[in-house]
Amino acid sequence: MIAIIGGSGLTELANLEITRRKIVRTPYGEPSGPLTFGRIGTQEVVFLARHGYGHTLAPHEINYRANLWALHAQEITRVVAIATVGGIAANLGAGTIAVPDQIIDYTWGRPSTYFEGSEQPVTHVDFTYPYNEDLRRLAIASAKDAGLGIVDGGTYAAVQGPRLETKAEIDRLERDGATMVGMTGMPEAALARELGLAYAHLCVVVNPRWWRGMAVRDVLRMGHPVLREKAKPVEHFGTAELRDLLQDMKDTMAAKNGAGLAAPQIGVGQRVVIFGVDKNPRYPNAEEVPFTVLVNPKLVMLTREVEEDWEGCLSVPGMRGVVPRYIKLRYSGFDIEGDPIERVAEGFHARVVQHECDHLDGILYPQRMTDLSRFGFNEELFPGEELQDE
Ligand code: HPA
Repeated sequence: MIAIIGGSGLTELANLEITRRKIVRTPYGEPSGPLTFGRIGTQEVVFLARHGYGHTLAPHEINYRANLWALHAQEITRVVAIATVGGIAANLGAGTIAVPDQIIDYTWGRPSTYFEGSEQPVTHVDFTYPYNEDLRRLAIASAKDAGLGIVDGGTYAAVQGPRLETKAEIDRLERDGATMVGMTGMPEAALARELGLAYAHLCVVVNPRWWRGMAVRDVLRMGHPVLREKAKPVEHFGTAELRDLLQDMKDTMAAKNGAGLAAPQIGVGQRVVIFGVDKNPRYPNAEEVPFTVLVNPKLVMLTREVEEDWEGCLSVPGMRGVVPRYIKLRYSGFDIEGDPIERVAEGFHARVVQHECDHLDGILYPQRMTDLSRFGFNEELFPGEELQDE
């Protein structure tokens, strides 16, 4: 029989036909909860929610020894452990599933062996390859069959938690060779090995950590849920976090040759936009717009008059559409140190500001269009021209 240990957010399996639940006691105390027995298709499985059924146990409070012992006592031979992780390697974006092949253990103070106490012989299990390769292959093949993209291999850093790591700590984990970080992988994997259970990890990336220190960030594309959300006002000015965000936004905008960028476009739901267009001989028609950083912006339209013109967006790459915008407005807000900014803008400058501030309310330019016949691909609309996006 196979056991599935569910991680954060996975306290039940949707397709599990439950046959019974069983409370198991062990010489090491109580497991995180009762074991749930059932079937997925024809496969008999036992399920255990690692953090308890109401998600009440922090990673360092989990009785790993009792959990694995309880499963072992059910004549289980294989354990697929599902866990959420932070992605450190650049290919581990949010939602990616990874099946690591190595572990580095940074946890401390967790009872992590069955081989202790006067009745137990000292035993050093081989843990060179911490995961069972056959079970890894099976997990990878099944995920592929189910149409899920999967990253085969990687090194799981098991950290103590429950807090998340500092930037320097993630830097260190990366230097150590870790590609993902989680809080529950150890001693779980080692205890499974001590009991002779085949063990593999299915790691779901919930928060990519790889962008830290890497200035050019991926720009989210239309359809991504973050682009539809209303961003939150910045509450604290002059912080290192805000400076880092601004640096990333500037570098990303420069690398992608954009005319503007809003924080949600790089996945940060805060009310921060930047924009600016230099006089550039490559774009003789683009009016100059002063480089501006605007935090918590407010717009006041100074006219009802609108004008239509083409727009592009880094979140709608390769496309252009005609968008009506107000031709004159006053914008106000703050720079990242909290100093106020107020300006009147017209024409292209006013257009760029409206486009960027729309991002903070979850609006992309196609939602402002009134005539979709003037929406299309750059290469078809403007063959041979180089264009800037916002
Ligand atoms: N760090 C540690 N554990 C985690 C993380 C993280 O960023 N995300 C999910 N589990």
